Amino acid sequence: MAEITKKTAVTKPLNQEPINDLANVESDFKKLDARSQYYYLRKLKPFKRAVKFVSLSHQKQKDLLAFRKQNRSQKSKPKTDFNEENIFEVRNFNLWYNNGDKQALFDINFDIKKNKVTALIGPSGCGKSTFLRNLNRMHDLDNSIITEGDIWFNGENINSKKYSLMELRTKVGMVFQKPTPFNMSIYDNIAFGPKNHGIKDKNTLDNIVKESLMDAALWEDVKNDLQAPATSLSGGQQQRLCIARSIALKPDVLLMDEPTSALDPIATGKIERLIKKLSDKVTIVIVTHSMAQAQRISDNTVFFLKGKVIEANTTKKIFTRPKTKELRHYLNGDENNDQ
Ligand SMILES: Nc1ncnc2c1ncn2[C@@H]1O[C@H](COP(=O)(O)OP(=O)(O)OP(=O)(O)O)[C@@H](O)[C@H]1O
Ligand SMILES: [Mg+2]
Repeated sequence: MAEITKKTAVTKPLNQEPINDLANVESDFKKLDARSQYYYLRKLKPFKRAVKFVSLSHQKQKDLLAFRKQNRSQKSKPKTDFNEENIFEVRNFNLWYNNGDKQALFDINFDIKKNKVTALIGPSGCGKSTFLRNLNRMHDLDNSIITEGDIWFNGENINSKKYSLMELRTKVGMVFQKPTPFNMSIYDNIAFGPKNHGIKDKNTLDNIVKESLMDAALWEDVKNDLQAPATSLSGGQQQRLCIARSIALKPDVLLMDEPTSALDPIATGKIERLIKKLSDKVTIVIVTHSMAQAQRISDNTVFFLKGKVIEANTTKKIFTRPKTKELRHYLNGDENNDQ
C-alpha cells in the first residue's frame, strides 16, 4: 500500500495536485495543507522546525502529526503481499525537482522481475534516468527533490531503516553512460569496494578481482597487466571494468543508464552478451534509446512518456503488440510524442 492513498490521504493525492513551491513558502506556511507543511519542515534544522511547528494551530498540528505517522508507518513495515518473483515493486511513485516546482514522475506503478533484464525506453526527457536513480536512492543528497509513494525492494521499503544507504547501494549497483573508472590501477578499481567492506586478505582480494573480471568478460584482455592504470583501457574495456567493479560487491541488481551509448558496435555487442550472461545471477535494469538493443537483451520493457509509465510488459509484447497509440507512435518514430 502506498503511503498516500485516495482513501486515507490527509490532503488530496499528490499526483493530482501540484505541490507548492516549497522554496518560497516562508510567509504562507500556516496556510499550506499538512502534506506541504510536512515536506517543508523536513528541510529545516530541528530548532527552526520546532518553532514553525508550535506556531501552528492545534488542529493543524494534529493533521501534520497524522500525516507524518501515516507516512512513517508505511515505510517501516515489510510489504506482506510482495511477490517473490519480483525484486522491486513500485507503487504510486511521484517525484518533484526544484522543491516541488517541477514534477518529473507521475504515479508510477510497475514491478521489476528478479533475475531478468528490464529495459526502460521512451523519448528524451521522459524521466527514465530520474526513475532509475531512485532505485538505489541516488537522489538522497539532493534536498530539493521530493518523492512520494513507495519503492519496495525484496519486500522492504527502500527508505526503511533496515537499509543504510551503503547497504542499499551495495545491493543495487549502478553503471553510468560514460565509463567512470577511478584514477587507479585496474586491480585497485575492483579491490576498492571489497576493501572498503573490510576485506583485507590478499588472496581473497585477488580471487574477487579475477572472478569479477572474468564475469565481466575482461580477464583475458587485462590478466597480464592488472597494475596498468584503468584509464589506459579503451572505452569499451573501461565500461566492462566499471561493470566488474560493480559485480565485485555481489549486488542483487545492476542499474545501467545507457551503458553502451558511447561505444562502438563491437564493444556494444560485448556488453550486451555480458548483460545476458549476468542476468542469471543479477537483476538488470537498463535505460536504452536503442529499440534493437532492448529487443536483443531484455525480457521485459517499460515505456515512459512525459514522466508516466504508459506500458509495461514482456519485451515481445511491447514490440509486437503495443496496446497504446502512444507506444505505437513511439515505435514508429512519430515525432508527436516528443516533449
Ligand atoms: N536535476 C534536475 N533538476 C530539474 N529538472 C531535472 C533535473 N534532472 C532532470 N530534470 C528534468 O526531469 C525530466 C526527466 O529527465 P530525465 O533526465 O530523467 O529524462 P530521460 O528520460 O533520462 O532523458 P534522456 O533520454 O535524454 O536521458 C526532464 O524534463 C528534465 O529536464
Ligand atoms: Mg537519461
